[in-house]
Amino acid sequence: MTLLVAHQLVKRFGALLATDHVSFAVNAGEIHALIGPNGAGKSTLVNLISGLLPADGGTLSLDGVDLTHLAPHRRVAAGLSRCFQVTSIFPRQTVGENLLLAVQAHAGSSFRFVKRRETDHALLAAAQALAQRVTLAGEWDRVAGTLPHGAQRKLDVALAIAARPKLLLLDEPMAGMGPVESAEMVELIQRLRQDMAILLIEHDMDAVFQLADRISVLVYGKVLTSGSAAEIQADAQVQAVYLGTESDLADEVHT
Ligand SMILES: Nc1ncnc2c1ncn2[C@@H]1O[C@H](COP(=O)(O)OP(=O)(O)OP(=O)(O)O)[C@@H](O)[C@H]1O
Ligand SMILES: [Mg+2]
Repeated sequence: MTLLVAHQLVKRFGALLATDHVSFAVNAGEIHALIGPNGAGKSTLVNLISGLLPADGGTLSLDGVDLTHLAPHRRVAAGLSRCFQVTSIFPRQTVGENLLLAVQAHAGSSFRFVKRRETDHALLAAAQALAQRVTLAGEWDRVAGTLPHGAQRKLDVALAIAARPKLLLLDEPMAGMGPVESAEMVELIQRLRQDMAILLIEHDMDAVFQLADRISVLVYGKVLTSGSAAEIQADAQVQAVYLGTESDLADEVHT
């Protein structure tokens, strides 16, 4: 089943066509990776999908709901949630406070008819479940800004999934991580896929090839090709784009 459908999306920054009539789809239950060289337009595309940037053309729908003209928070309500290339946690609040705020923000009408004390109890239980889910239960009372980088990214993911999205957008979740933290993030993403589709932007090709069911390659704002990891690795056009760049796809395709 198709979940997200982007059709002919366009974004201009002055003379630059950062998103050049991009069409692609993410299926339910799928991890879809978006790769491409620096400046290819990956973050711009995520910003168009999440509604952070208005598109100059094209349409977007999620699970049959037209998102094209919806504000970002309405898109979250429709089932779309995101993490940014830079984390958006509250660094001076504790892990628990961060999670409670996120759960509260998305609880909305579901607690409207229950008593205050029951509400608080349910919110706390939901926040604690989130902490468990991203393996941060042991850090509940720790000030978030003092967590190691990898743990801060996990918290960021927890804040995004508090909205119970159908589709989670992850913009470089492994950025700045060492091998141990990256491996933990890969494991976390593997667990999340049971409950949501994921659009993953990532330069770490080992992670991409481990996780992605399908990969779309973006170059100069255009989708060059989409396919399975094996298809993408064997694609001569993709190899040509990556050869001679700093990306490690070139190494991957020759090993
Ligand atoms: N707000 C903006 N104003 C003007 N130009 C922008 C803006 N945001 C992005 N761009 C330009 O649009 C192009 C695409 O940028 P984008 O950040 O989407 O690339 P990216 O694929 O995410 O790159 P990276 O891998 O480095 O994160 C780049 O040429 C960039 O300089
Ligand atoms: Mg980017």
